[in-house]
Amino acid sequence: MTIRPAPDALLSRFSQFVAGQMGLHFPPERATDLQRRIRSATREFGFEDVADCVQWLMSAPLTRSQIEILAGNLTVGETYFFREKRTFEIFEEHVLPELTRLRRGGEQRLRLWSAACCSGEEPYSIAISLRKIIPDLVDWHVTILGSDINPRFLHKASKGVFTEWSFRNAPSWLKEGHFEKVENGHWEILPEIKRMVSFSHINLAQDVYPSLLNDTNVVDVIFCRNVLIYFAPEQVEKVIRNFHRCLTEGGWLVLSPSETSHVLFSQFVPVNFEGTILYQKDSARTSPVDRRAPQLEEASRVFFQPLPEPVAETGAMAPQVWELLELAESKTAEPPPGAYDQAFAFYEQGRYAETAETLAALLSSPPVEPRAMALMARTLANQGNLAGALGWCDKVIAADKLNPGAHYLRASVLHEQGNLNESVQSFKRVLYLDPDFVLAHFALGNLARHEGKFREADRHFEHALALTHGRPHEEILPESEGITAGRLSEIITASRQSETAA
Ligand SMILES: C[S@@+](CC[C@H](N)C(=O)[O-])C[C@H]1O[C@@H](n2cnc3c(N)ncnc32)[C@H](O)[C@@H]1O
Repeated sequence: MTIRPAPDALLSRFSQFVAGQMGLHFPPERATDLQRRIRSATREFGFEDVADCVQWLMSAPLTRSQIEILAGNLTVGETYFFREKRTFEIFEEHVLPELTRLRRGGEQRLRLWSAACCSGEEPYSIAISLRKIIPDLVDWHVTILGSDINPRFLHKASKGVFTEWSFRNAPSWLKEGHFEKVENGHWEILPEIKRMVSFSHINLAQDVYPSLLNDTNVVDVIFCRNVLIYFAPEQVEKVIRNFHRCLTEGGWLVLSPSETSHVLFSQFVPVNFEGTILYQKDSARTSPVDRRAPQLEEASRVFFQPLPEPVAETGAMAPQVWELLELAESKTAEPPPGAYDQAFAFYEQGRYAETAETLAALLSSPPVEPRAMALMARTLANQGNLAGALGWCDKVIAADKLNPGAHYLRASVLHEQGNLNESVQSFKRVLYLDPDFVLAHFALGNLARHEGKFREADRHFEHALALTHGRPHEEILPESEGITAGRLSEIITASRQSETAA
């Protein structure tokens, strides 16, 4: 079949469309490259004429399967284990030791995200580094998420079987103790390492993140390397803003050395490790209101602020919150009118310190609104202060025992803490109060799957799918922070497909 090319004007409109939908940027100098790539996609879509195919694609927002085919043709799937060795050295010698030092003895949790992970070499390298650096890893609640836009890459990643090509430039010790030789001279990652990583379809240009639903909230380290170079500048800005919200205070954004720019990343503090720069979230030093870029030359080593002491099981508030309340009481006798809306606006912008401060003033004088307490719980959870968040969840529930949303929040925080048994009980309580609470079914499905209870997981996923299908596609689900019914249905379908395939 001969594929007829598209006129330049149409191609340029298509290029803008792709930038909006997938982030990918094809400047005029890459027009020939785009022509070539779209020709091969046209063939895959079953069209003979690129113009017809492109018009058809642009007639509505891209569906998941269209994105899948386009991603396969427009993206670059180049990756290998321990890529950019120096970055991993810094990760192992500085980032991980500091994180573990600060968390040890308290909430021993770590969350890492390889955004745009391709076929999985990057998140598996992260898992191997963790095993190397943290001797008591079994006592830690660790989540490592690998995400990508291309489902074929994700499928390969979750199989965990690699050719020699993935080991180019890899350290010599890597295969020993981490991989097993399988047929055709391929190498399979050991099951105990494979289990440490979960994979999800996330389109960085579109998807809702941070979200409790896909492990993209309260992240300690985000690796996003060798992908933003392909993005349109306005999309890069959006992605970086969202990453900032995903990260816990003191968390790190790791990019490829060729992608670092102190203008784009001005919300972060650049930390210079002898020429390699990592970006740290430190809102006290770079308030999102003040977007002036810190000078790279002046960038100095920044140490984490320790998390507040863990709080006893009584559900009491973390000392940090008490301090905030006392401070607020001494400052203001009465909260300003519209304080909740103000706090909510801060929250929506990811300005959690300001949210907490505004809420602390509001909560210091009666009547105390349950929604303000619930927002305080969410805010503290997003700051990584899970004990404090749990304390506020308990208060919301004490004020409004039959509120399924409050129980859902509590269950989610328990889940974040790695307290799986209690979180299951809490999610079940949600369903007892509201059998149609979609996200509780979804969470219980994931938890059951994690424990190998596949029939139970299927039951919950079926239930969640039926509930999403009964709602308008664009309806935002309660307690989801922006996930629509249609999106959740896609997430469930995709994760079940990858499970079956693996
Ligand atoms: C060159 S690879 C980088 C892999 C790995 N991070 C590394 O540095 O080795 C780029 C990856 O970005 C993914 N990608 C491209 N656009 C994306 C998007 N909008 N959302 C998520 N992933 C995307 C591609 O599918 C591809 O797997």
